[in-house]
Amino acid sequence: MKRTILLDVDTGVDDSIAILFALRLPQLEVKAITTVSGNVHVDEVTENTKVVLGLIEHKGIRLGKGASASLRRTRFHAPEVHGDEGLGNVRGKYIRYRTRIQTERAVPLLIDIIKKSKTPVSIVATGPLTNIARAIKKDNRTMQRVKEIISMGGSFGHRGNTGPLAEFNYYVDPDAVNVVAQAGIPLTIVPLNVTETVPLSRKDVIAWSRKANSGVSRFIADVTEFYMDFHSRVEGFRGGFMHDPLTIAIAAVPSIVKKRYKKPILIETQGLYTSGTTLTRDAIGNEKNAPVVSVIAEIDHRRFWNLFRKALFATDKH
Ligand code: BDR
Ligand code: CA
Repeated sequence: MKRTILLDVDTGVDDSIAILFALRLPQLEVKAITTVSGNVHVDEVTENTKVVLGLIEHKGIRLGKGASASLRRTRFHAPEVHGDEGLGNVRGKYIRYRTRIQTERAVPLLIDIIKKSKTPVSIVATGPLTNIARAIKKDNRTMQRVKEIISMGGSFGHRGNTGPLAEFNYYVDPDAVNVVAQAGIPLTIVPLNVTETVPLSRKDVIAWSRKANSGVSRFIADVTEFYMDFHSRVEGFRGGFMHDPLTIAIAAVPSIVKKRYKKPILIETQGLYTSGTTLTRDAIGNEKNAPVVSVIAEIDHRRFWNLFRKALFATDKH
């Protein structure tokens, strides 16, 4: 049986690949996509999502535009990583594919689907958790029906990618992470220390795309060029981390997870240099309000790359 999911994104280069991946995986049924400010402003994120959806079959999927700003923090984007418009500056080349799908409002859309769904719904979030926190504040009762929230974010025992310790999604809206974690809905975190173990190299993406010769594979080669230039300069390798596609793979095929543990966590919301940091027992002692969440620690790389390549670079697809 397919797993019913709602996808909350801040499209974003790796989010754009994650959307295509989710729509191609037979294990998932994507009911709706909601957008949130993160990598770029939500107006751009929504536009990018429409372009990506136009590249692929998306019958029956609803689209909701969400929060333009974090719960409390001032806006923060990452144009140096994702390009000014968020699609590595190639949106113009693909704009003709933009779907004409009607846009709804994200929070009412999430609540409506969760309320009406006959099958349990999970949420996969590859951006800041602002929309999910807002939905909990608006209708916690309905949100309690959510089976699991799988969120890309945080960093455990590892550096940050936005400041010394914080990961980008949790840096952008740390208050939202606390709201979501404290709501008591099962929360699974896919942190930076794990997503940084899945770098896609420029060499592979070019070779796979040439071989597949499909619209989707050509888009992935194009959209990643700027992102990979950034990684060349900052990370010292010619490629880019597949943070968000890994999160989709874990939602679709949970058995690719080799190790996970339960941890009480809190997110720092105040620190001048440390806001967005994921704190665990060692740092917070016996803090009573720290909710216990599930944290992914290790995955099966071979199975991830097989899934990824088969779904996005098959030679018989367009
Ligand atoms: C996360 O931040 C964004 O830049 C990526 O899309 C990913 O969701 C990685 O820290
Ligand atoms: Ca993202």
